[in-house]
Amino acid sequence: MDKLWGGRFEKQTDEAVEAFTTSLSVDARLWEVDIRGSIAHARMLGKIGVLTPEEADSIITGLQSLREDIASGKVAFDSQAEDIHSEIERLLTERIGAAAGRLHTARSRNDQVATDTRLYLREGIDALCERIQQLQKWLVDTAQSHLHTLLPGCTHLQHAQPVSLAHHLMAYFWMLQRDRERLAGCRKRVNQLPLGSAALAGTSFALDREMVAQELGFEGVCENSMDAVSDRDFVVEFLCCAALVMMHLSRLAEELILWSTPEFGFVELDDSVTTGSSIMPQKKNPDVAELIRGRMGRVVADLTGALVMLKALPLSYNRDLQEDKGFLFDALDTALSSVAMAHLMLSRAQFRVERMRQAVQGDFSNATDLADYLVRKGMPFRQAHEVVGRVVLYCLRQGVALERLSVEELRQFSHLFESDALQVLQPEAVMGARRSRGGAAPEAVSQQIAIARELLGGDTH
Ligand code: ARG
Repeated sequence: MDKLWGGRFEKQTDEAVEAFTTSLSVDARLWEVDIRGSIAHARMLGKIGVLTPEEADSIITGLQSLREDIASGKVAFDSQAEDIHSEIERLLTERIGAAAGRLHTARSRNDQVATDTRLYLREGIDALCERIQQLQKWLVDTAQSHLHTLLPGCTHLQHAQPVSLAHHLMAYFWMLQRDRERLAGCRKRVNQLPLGSAALAGTSFALDREMVAQELGFEGVCENSMDAVSDRDFVVEFLCCAALVMMHLSRLAEELILWSTPEFGFVELDDSVTTGSSIMPQKKNPDVAELIRGRMGRVVADLTGALVMLKALPLSYNRDLQEDKGFLFDALDTALSSVAMAHLMLSRAQFRVERMRQAVQGDFSNATDLADYLVRKGMPFRQAHEVVGRVVLYCLRQGVALERLSVEELRQFSHLFESDALQVLQPEAVMGARRSRGGAAPEAVSQQIAIARELLGGDTH
């Protein structure tokens, strides 16, 4: 196959080397941003007089028609191509002839590929944020209707203090909110234009990089041409953000897996998002949640792979950098589909609220409140903790719930207990008492939800 760089070579490239070095199967998806970048470059070359108006025009209209034909499937890529950049140039040459050869003036594939990757990732980040936001909306809306749905709040996976399903769901809202904020920060650093850096040292043509940046929607231009062609920090940064999104989803997935076991029985996943067994007829498995949990590992591998690929790489462009896109696209695809699947699975889940409420009965998750009661009567907390610990031990021996004790029984442990002691022990009262900002009481969670809705843009009522 003809090369963009054949002139100085006396021999053909070995076919095995071509197969080893091609990136088309990975970078083909950059075709649209590649054309967009080339149109902006050609327009700018026309404006500064490096191309005649006719040449610029012919290149731009050629690229536009090529874009339509690729989109409609009329034109297919040659799988032998070295990469998408050379393939687009070849297709343009087929279309408009020799004028296509002027497009690459003052440009290298090094700044071109960095530009394409940034454009593609910018749109990927926007799509991911949009999906995360949809999931957040679901969390907020669902939380709103479960402010009073009691649920065991756990530490160490042991019942700790009762919370509401609303409070539990909202915890995930905040994880995802931080994810979106991180992605927004990452987007700023992604959104800088490398084009105009050429191979590594800039160019002797008087380019108008700001014009290109503006046309392509970049917030600024990369200030150092060597850094611009070899920087992949923005890829690593995105991979970090994606790994955190996946880590959060893996925790959510793990809880859905646990909650859908008969031992928990807190949730019934819909048939449409679960799978069966080839041997056990009774099975309904949470495979979607398990794959989300498992694919977190993939994204961490992508992040690690990108970091190791970059480690100790000398300036400026090295072919190693071509490997960035495999990591990037895998993580982006995985995060996008995982957020969508988490949303689908949750939106069709049936929460077993009666099971949740029952799980809180007699589970001693009100013991802190009995200690707090003694503190309000003047006892130091450490002593109150000790006293209530003995009450719990007594209950366990008698096989009775804390809230079922009589005042007389309580008074054997401390004379500070009075008839009102039992009122603080009902799970609703225990949860309702936690009105501190960020706490589990319905009023506090309502406040939290109001703030969350504001962050979502207020259009979620
Ligand atoms: N396919 C290459 C990549 O993705 C394009 C840049 C090639 N540049 C070079 N000097 N070989 O990185």
